[in-house]
Amino acid sequence: QRVFIGDFVHCKTLDTLEILEDTAIFVDEEGVIVAIERGCDLKKAEEISIPRLGWVKEDVMVRVARKGQFFFPGFVDTHIHAPQYPNVGIFGKSTLLDWLTTYTFPMESSLKDLARARSVYTRCIKRTLSHGTTTAAYYATIHVATTNLLSDLCLANGQRAFVGRCCLDSLSPDWYIDESPAQAIKDTRATIEHIANIDPSNKLITPILTPRFAPGCSTELMTQLGALHKETNLPFQTHISENKGELDLVKELFPNSPNYTSVYDSHGLLTPKTILAHAIHLDESEVDLIIKRQSKVSHCPCSNSSITSGTCKVRWLLEKGVEVGLGTDVSGGYSPSILEAARQASLVSRHIAMSGDDKAKLSIEEVLYLATRGGANVVGLEQKIGGFEVGMEWDAQLIGLGPNYWSEDEGNPECVKALEGVEESPVDMFGWENWEERIAKWVFNGDDRNTLAVWVKGRLVHEIRK
Ligand code: GUN
Ligand code: ZN
Repeated sequence: QRVFIGDFVHCKTLDTLEILEDTAIFVDEEGVIVAIERGCDLKKAEEISIPRLGWVKEDVMVRVARKGQFFFPGFVDTHIHAPQYPNVGIFGKSTLLDWLTTYTFPMESSLKDLARARSVYTRCIKRTLSHGTTTAAYYATIHVATTNLLSDLCLANGQRAFVGRCCLDSLSPDWYIDESPAQAIKDTRATIEHIANIDPSNKLITPILTPRFAPGCSTELMTQLGALHKETNLPFQTHISENKGELDLVKELFPNSPNYTSVYDSHGLLTPKTILAHAIHLDESEVDLIIKRQSKVSHCPCSNSSITSGTCKVRWLLEKGVEVGLGTDVSGGYSPSILEAARQASLVSRHIAMSGDDKAKLSIEEVLYLATRGGANVVGLEQKIGGFEVGMEWDAQLIGLGPNYWSEDEGNPECVKALEGVEESPVDMFGWENWEERIAKWVFNGDDRNTLAVWVKGRLVHEIRK
């Protein structure tokens, strides 16, 4: 059992943050929030609340957010390619299709090697955890053994994850391609079975069906994946409408489909459990179809700018009723940080505003919503994660903005010693900032040096040590 005491910030709705000051959140052995008490200090929690919950004080771990620190829900990365992690920041002048052949397929192909995969995947998981990503929807490669290893490593490091063995039987070099649709399905089933065996009760890791994108999948493969979804009810992830050259290819390959979205729909891939990454160049009828099927969108602003794919009209998607989350899209995206994705989502929306659509601007509240509750909706975990409510699981990060603010020592020697905060914070605090200003400074100037500790399902999975 754990008690977290201090100030908590989470997104109440798309455009409102709720600040719970001087609050205690009680988390049971399963990592579930069992009580939230407002106006609660350490003494009150220990004297009143702990006995009331039937807990024995000596068995309870207490973590206090000191002055200038606050708890925030863990981030959800709704789209990330773990095998591309060594390439973050490396994209040259490429756009999607030549980027895939120049940088991506060679790197992914090399991840067949178990030792290399162990190193790359471990570093990717640890790095994303250090940036507060408590849940990630991962694409792996076409290789079963190393895809299974990725799921083992997520479990071992305590990151909640969706792990997809990538299906790719067309339009890629002969040294990185599925042998046949039947082989791709057999290998996908092997990963599903592996995850069922490693994580039967914990439910931290979920397999996800992963047709890479329509141009990389034959009609036969997509049809069989649609059937596999019907059989298993597992989620899907794929790319959609990212790049103009890709759109031309889709038109050429699927001449009978009216548009990109209907290619997926006609193969049974568009369901309430489908995560569609990018969604930049969709027309109105495609968005209407996505809404009808209740499929979700992963917005990947860092990637869309890096490989110059376009600007996703997030306000339009939200107003039409699409559920949207954020994705880093490592390594189309240059950063493994969802805070960076939130910042770029804000800036890209301002670029759209500068082209004449002023209401396109996304607020700080909105980008933080996309990073937490929005992402939880996209991966279908909105009942479990994304905010602080009784019954939800404790996926959280402790944020410390800087020594200037918290220097006044309010620590209590009786509690588990809280971290002193960040010595080298990228944020300069002056002590007079209100909550709105503090959060804005975090979003626009903060980074992993401000992420002092991270928990998933109640378990401490990352901590900055001095
Ligand atoms: N489309 C197909 N594969 C990929 C990929 O790996 N990254 C991105 N951004 N788009 C894709
Ligand atoms: Zn991607």
